[in-house]
Amino acid sequence: MTATVIDGKAFAANVRGQVAEHVTRLKEEHGITPGLAVVLVGEDPASQVYVRNKGKQTVEVGMNSIEHKLDASTTQDELLAVIESLNADPSVHGILCQLPVPDHIDGDTIINAIDPAKDVDGFHISNVGLLGTGQKAMVPCTPLGCLMMLREHHGSLSGLNAVVIGRSNIVGKPMANLLLGDSCTVTIAHSRTADLPGVVKQADIVVAAVGRPQMVPGDWIKPGATVIDVGINRIEKPEGGTRLVGDVDYDSCADVAGAITPVPGGVGPMTIACLLANTVTACCRANGLAEPVGLTA
Ligand code: GUN
Repeated sequence: MTATVIDGKAFAANVRGQVAEHVTRLKEEHGITPGLAVVLVGEDPASQVYVRNKGKQTVEVGMNSIEHKLDASTTQDELLAVIESLNADPSVHGILCQLPVPDHIDGDTIINAIDPAKDVDGFHISNVGLLGTGQKAMVPCTPLGCLMMLREHHGSLSGLNAVVIGRSNIVGKPMANLLLGDSCTVTIAHSRTADLPGVVKQADIVVAAVGRPQMVPGDWIKPGATVIDVGINRIEKPEGGTRLVGDVDYDSCADVAGAITPVPGGVGPMTIACLLANTVTACCRANGLAEPVGLTA
């Protein structure tokens, strides 16, 4: 193995530290405590874990955590009423409705009911449009975390060839827009891409976000490239039990790449850290204050 391992766990701790400093300043200098509201509908076990972690980390950086845990039978109108009340509450600066919502609720309707200025997920159609046109937006947390790590590792990304594998609205598309914003030459590859190995081989930066375990082998990687692995997949171990792996085959890619994020401990921890960063950013914007440097796109 030759690649530098990009330690997302340490990086996320650093981001949370910066967020905590901004929170202290907002409290001491302006008497404002940023507030993040998380809405969970139903009892999906994975969602419950995410929401618990979000609430815990929100409190740890000194912000107010507001949780609305609603029964799985909650109607769309009832959920919309909760969103409306959070939109109108000046002590709430960020709102997140944990996805997926139950089948009888339309996720897009809920996301687009959130005040775009409080949309700390960056999923509202207004924020998608602002990002796509290179304007100031709330940016989805996982791609923002990837961008922060890439900027830290490379300094300038200008002129680099970036290949994003995966075209999801949550990761692939916003990631491509962020890389374009930093003047990369960007290709979005996906399941129908012709000669995917050849396309990936051109990349100085590979961002893998397809949700297919260990799909990218080391011999697709250009020597010295930076590999950002967004995948989190649980697979069976030959000896029994399970383990987490990414969308790239870590061992073979680490032999060729210049830098690589591990799974776990790479991109994963950055997502909640960036959610907290987005909440501070939203709070500063709502109060007409300077945005935190280094925590936005
Ligand atoms: N479910 C899984 N990841 C996410 C996320 O980043 N935001 C929301 N709202 N729901 C999720």
